[in-house]
Amino acid sequence: MGLNKTIVRNMSRIEARKLGLALLVGCCIVILTYFVSMSETTVDQQLSVAYRVGTVEVVDGKISLQKPERLRKAEGGHGNTAEEKVHRTNFSAISPITAKEEKRESEKPKDEEILPPKREAERSQTMKPQVVEPICDFSDPRTEFCEMKGDVRIHGKSSSVVFVSPHQRSNEWKIVPYVRKQMGNVEKVSVRTASSPGGVPECTINRSVPAIVFALGGFTGNYYHDFTDVLLPLFLTARQFDGEVQFLITNIQVWWLHKYDPIIKRLTRYEFVDLDDSNQVLCHPHVMVGLRFHNDLTIQPTRAPNGYSMLDFTAFLRSAYSLQKAHAISLREHPDRKPRLLLVARNGTRRFTNVPEIVQMAEGLNYEVVRADADFGDVAGFAGVVNSCDVIMGVHGAGLTNLVFLPTNAVLIQIVPCCELEGMATHTFGFPSMGAGLNYLEYNISVEESTLSEKYPREHPVFTDPQSLHKQGWFKMGKIYLVKQNVKLDVNRFRPFLVRAMDLLGR
Ligand SMILES: *[C@@H]1O[C@H](CO)[C@@H](O)[C@H](O)[C@H]1NC(C)=O
Ligand SMILES: *[C@@H]1O[C@H](CO)[C@@H](O)[C@H](O)[C@H]1NC(C)=O
Ligand SMILES: *[C@@H]1O[C@H](CO)[C@@H](O)[C@H](O)[C@H]1NC(C)=O
Ligand SMILES: *[C@@H]1O[C@H](CO)[C@@H](O)[C@H](O)[C@H]1NC(C)=O
Repeated sequence: MGLNKTIVRNMSRIEARKLGLALLVGCCIVILTYFVSMSETTVDQQLSVAYRVGTVEVVDGKISLQKPERLRKAEGGHGNTAEEKVHRTNFSAISPITAKEEKRESEKPKDEEILPPKREAERSQTMKPQVVEPICDFSDPRTEFCEMKGDVRIHGKSSSVVFVSPHQRSNEWKIVPYVRKQMGNVEKVSVRTASSPGGVPECTINRSVPAIVFALGGFTGNYYHDFTDVLLPLFLTARQFDGEVQFLITNIQVWWLHKYDPIIKRLTRYEFVDLDDSNQVLCHPHVMVGLRFHNDLTIQPTRAPNGYSMLDFTAFLRSAYSLQKAHAISLREHPDRKPRLLLVARNGTRRFTNVPEIVQMAEGLNYEVVRADADFGDVAGFAGVVNSCDVIMGVHGAGLTNLVFLPTNAVLIQIVPCCELEGMATHTFGFPSMGAGLNYLEYNISVEESTLSEKYPREHPVFTDPQSLHKQGWFKMGKIYLVKQNVKLDVNRFRPFLVRAMDLLGR
């Protein structure tokens, strides 16, 4: 185990060095591989879209974002206007799932929730039986997904999937099997239909289980992207088969699969196939190309197989990593116990400069403080630490992805650096934590709490016109706000958030 870990870490280091790749900004975005073939512009656009920077639209001169439901309630406001704004503002390709939508879903009658949602194809077939069943769904702005049942033949080396069916006309699509379909560095897979087997290669290996074709690479190697781009979409696509499914992987990175072994092993009982390197013609009775995706670290149960929700995903992760704690501490039942507060300190960028002061204040409020820097190499170890806690606080960054290991009802406090990063922050961790049954609090730091105030005069556009920097794209924005900025938390201003977290644990 220890050796494995070392290998995994060394591998990532070696790959990063070998490819001479830049350290990117963002949620500590160390993008390890596959950037060589992408121009900086493409990556920049992808990141801007991913984090809604530069592309975030401005409504009434203000960045449009949805406030955490809890804060809205606390302020006694009607959330609706804010939500409607989010809907009207088309955040380029990504539309955020709102708390309202989630509520609507949970209000649906129980049986409707449990029934697997009818696929578009099934609906159109019941209406017009003559229509050729579409096998690929291109309606989602983020992902392309094809599903075929019957005679499906896959040839890895030529990246081609052929569906032989008398009900299909000849057709061909090029699919990016990664949930960012604009991603230029992910090799496309050809999905073709043929009405007869003539000219289609014979199967050299017949399998009886379904297969999922998907790509690694992309932004994987960054902890946040590992979860939002692959692990959650993979859960959404594969979990329904209860292990009886095989993964056919392009852009394979074996170290990555080892790193998340407990998750992968729970999703499939079969060896993965390095598809780029396979010269066999693999035949499966049911093949999916691409992964299902709803939104970042978010599941919309009405669209999910078996009505899965984020709660199912987090329960699944707890089981995969043998995490004991399903619910955060109830201070009503145990008023004598101290809740555990995980302070994600961060070691590099966006770190707290006054950790001892924060720890002292929190201990004064009767928290047991656990100080840790997210150890991205040791997923299982860190997952255990996170799961043992009731509250997690940290500056916006990939470490907060660990929210997926928190027990339900725990509290996530995201500390949002300056300036106007709230939309991005809420999208990356706010909505996901609410979906996962956590309480979410968001603390916007003031300019005085930002170490940028030591580097730039107050009248500098960095403070007076953040949008002018945001508009220049992810790299330029990030170089200042995400790389140069540390946080000197004003403990007096912050204290009420820890008090509120304590209240939430007492409900
Ligand atoms: C939102 O943007 C996408 C991508 O630019 C576009 O296809 C879609 O039609 C837009 N939706 C609305 C409601 O404007
Ligand atoms: C795979 O199955 C097909 C259809 O049943 C059969 O024709 C073919 O011979 C099988 N190929 C192998 C390698 O078993
Ligand atoms: C944090 O940085 C210090 C000094 O740079 C280093 O010794 C330590 O190992 C780092 N901790 C983690 C968890 O990376
Ligand atoms: C954080 O900033 C946003 C955007 O300015 C604002 O809407 C929100 O109320 C702020 N949150 C808190 C807790 O001050």
